[in-house]
Amino acid sequence: MAGRHEKGLRTHTVTTSAFVLREDGVIETIGDAPSLGKDVPIPNRDVPDLPPQLVHRDDARSLWLYHGNCLELLDAIAAKYPQGRFDCIFADPPYFLSNGGITCHAGRMVKVDKGDWDKSRGPELNHQFNLEWLRCCQRALKPNVTIWISGTHHVIFSVGYALQQLGYKILNDIAWEKPNPPPNLSCRYFTHSTETILWAAKNENSKHLFNYQAMNQVTGKQMKTVWTIGPPSNGEKCFGKHPTQKPVALVERCLLASTNEGDLVFDPFLGGGTTAVASVRLKRKCIGIELDTKNVQMAVKRVESAARLRRAFGAASRRTRRVVLLTDLLSAHKKKACPASAGQALE
Ligand SMILES: C[S@@+](CC[C@H](N)C(=O)[O-])C[C@H]1O[C@@H](n2cnc3c(N)ncnc32)[C@H](O)[C@@H]1O
Repeated sequence: MAGRHEKGLRTHTVTTSAFVLREDGVIETIGDAPSLGKDVPIPNRDVPDLPPQLVHRDDARSLWLYHGNCLELLDAIAAKYPQGRFDCIFADPPYFLSNGGITCHAGRMVKVDKGDWDKSRGPELNHQFNLEWLRCCQRALKPNVTIWISGTHHVIFSVGYALQQLGYKILNDIAWEKPNPPPNLSCRYFTHSTETILWAAKNENSKHLFNYQAMNQVTGKQMKTVWTIGPPSNGEKCFGKHPTQKPVALVERCLLASTNEGDLVFDPFLGGGTTAVASVRLKRKCIGIELDTKNVQMAVKRVESAARLRRAFGAASRRTRRVVLLTDLLSAHKKKACPASAGQALE
């Protein structure tokens, strides 16, 4: 891949041939150590000069979690699987909104600062980044499958345009409504209470899967494109908080709508691991990658906990599960420990 250097930005080149994905999931470097220039700006200044590291591997559930840059992993996957690898992608990319604004958190006025990864580089460079990761994802999707992308107005219009430029077929735009959003402190705007989730097929020819009956069962009639789902519960945050963590219920609904048991899901911006947790709970396979060390550690803990829970209660009845989990919660409370995703299972 030719390097296209942007002025003033740290670029990071990894040619497709620099990294090779081995059968066991490990990514190997071939030739000289990679250190120079991917041809797109990466919205992180602290990009590791290493290939993505496989930090969690669970063969029983086909779960592979990586620490690193998704563009590099996607390059290696495309080289190994030219016909596509994934049955679905759920992506929650940088919002590009951490630029000194204010918001209300727990009743207090705080600066919007979700991390370096979330800083805007201006609309053109932000758009180039969206184009690049969406291009990489498109190559890695199997022919008849779909991608979900969540975002606020800071990023979603660029994502929508990039999808059109790349020839994806946009299927729906979902409004995820938050029932109890933080108030708008400036009183100069409506209070933000929705995020958008775009659902798109790989291209115009894709014959995508839609589990229509399963979705109807949730609401008792044809499901609409406004989904009211609360924020992540306390149980979902018991291994730490990610500033833009999505509720497991939201990702689960997307996966239920568009995949079958045993399908392989990919998340290029794994954050605190929500997509991997949802995949474990729904018996989907999952590969995810996250750039930040602390986040990836949280993702691993959450996914291990979800897998423990699946193992322990997979076959148990709902009532038995509740009894056992309440016991688990009580003993965890005594020990001040975090039970195996008990909060999630009790939702
Ligand atoms: C919006 S958050 C995702 C939150 C996630 N959906 C969850 O529920 O926890 C985006 C994440 O992408 C990560 N990130 C940003 N650029 C990345 C890149 N190039 N490759 C991999 N991860 C990246 C950030 O560190 C951040 O944790």
